Amino acid sequence: MYNFDKRIPRENTNNVKYDLRETYFGNKNVLPMWVADMDFETPDFITKAVIERANHLIYGYSFRPEGYYQSMINWVKRRLAWELQKEWLLFTPGIVPAINFSVHTYTHPGDGIIVQTPVYFPFFSAIKNNGRKLIENQLILSDGQYTMDFDDLEKKAKDAKMLFLSNPHNPVGRCWTSEELQQLSEICLKNNVIVISDEIHNDLILPGFRHTPTAILSDEITQNTVTCIAPSKTFNIAGLSTSTVIIQNDTLRKKFESTLEKLHISSGNLFGTVASQAGYTHGDRWLDELLKYVGENFNYLGNVLENEFSSLKLIKAEATYLGWIDFRETGMTDKAIKDSLIHKAELGLSHGPIFGSGGSGFQRINLAVPRSVVEEAVERLKTVFS
Ligand SMILES: Cc1ncc(COP(=O)(O)O)c(C=O)c1O
Repeated sequence: MYNFDKRIPRENTNNVKYDLRETYFGNKNVLPMWVADMDFETPDFITKAVIERANHLIYGYSFRPEGYYQSMINWVKRRLAWELQKEWLLFTPGIVPAINFSVHTYTHPGDGIIVQTPVYFPFFSAIKNNGRKLIENQLILSDGQYTMDFDDLEKKAKDAKMLFLSNPHNPVGRCWTSEELQQLSEICLKNNVIVISDEIHNDLILPGFRHTPTAILSDEITQNTVTCIAPSKTFNIAGLSTSTVIIQNDTLRKKFESTLEKLHISSGNLFGTVASQAGYTHGDRWLDELLKYVGENFNYLGNVLENEFSSLKLIKAEATYLGWIDFRETGMTDKAIKDSLIHKAELGLSHGPIFGSGGSGFQRINLAVPRSVVEEAVERLKTVFS
C-alpha cells in the first residue's frame, strides 16, 4: 500500500543528514546514510493531522489531550502487550534530554554510569558533560553475534549508580531477549544500579524478532527501571521533539517530575502531540510494511557484501534500521577507512570509533532508505572495497 521506493529530494530543508554534509564530512557529495532518520515520507495519516491542525492558523499554548495518552497506551498494549497507566507517563522533548535529566535526578557528580559499548554515543556525553564517571561494559562479539558480558558487568556494577541500556541496541542491532534483560536487570538490582532503558527503537523490530520491555520482567525490576520511548524513530518525526518517559516506581517518578518542573519544559510541542497521536492511532499497517521493506534492505546488503566483497560483512540485525558493517578484514586503519569512504567512495556513514570501545573497524549504515539508495551505496563501496 505504501511506496518506500520513492526517492524524495531533501536538500535545502535544513535537515542534518543532507544539508550538513559539508560540515560533518568535508564533502557535500557523500551519499548520506548516517544520522538516524529515514528518507521515507512521514506517513500520510500523520501529515494530514499536522496539516489540519496547522490550517487553524493559531499555534498558542496547548496541552496533551486525553486522546493523546490513550493512543499511546493502546499502541503499547497492541504492539508490546504492555499495559501502561497514564500516571506513569512523563513528557520530555527527546530521549537524549531524558537521559541527561536522569543523570541529574538520580546521580551525583563523580558517580559511575555504565554503558555497553559500542553504543549510541550521546550516552557518553550525558555522562561526561555532567561530571559523572564513564564505565564501559563492552559487548562480546563472537561468530558474528553480539552478547552482553555479564561477568564484567558484575564487577563494574559495584562501582556504579546507573546503567544506560539500549534496548534494542544501537548500533549492533540486537533485540535483547528476556533472559538477557533479566540477567542484566538482576545484576543492577543487586548492586543498586538504576537502569535507564532507552527503548526509542522498540517499534523497529525486524520480522522474526520480538521486543521485550525491560520493565515488565518482574515487580522488582519494574521498580528499578526508567523506560524511554518515542514515536520519533518509528514514524520519522524526530524534528517534532516529542517523547515519553515511563516510571512505575512512585519515588523515582516524583524525583524525575521534580527535575522537569524545575526546568519548566513539560509543555512540549503542539505539532509533536498531534503527530504522535495520529501515528499511535493509525500507524500499525504502515509500520508493518516499513519493517518488511527495511528487513529486505538488510537482506539485500548482507547478501551483496557476502557475495561480492571479500572483506566486508554486515552484522546480522534483529532490530533498528541501522546496519553495522565489519571492515576489520580490510586490514585498514579507522582513519584510512573513514577517508576512503568519504573521499573515494563518497559515502557518508557513522564512524565506528565514535561508539566507544569495540567500535574500531566498524561503520554504521542507515538502511531506512529506498532500495535504489542501498544499491547506489553498494556501487560506491565497490569503487574502494570490493
Ligand atoms: C538509542 C537512541 N537513543 C536516543 C536517540 C535520539 O533521541 P532524541 O532525538 O529523542 O533525543 C537515538 C537517535 O538515534 C538513539 O538511537
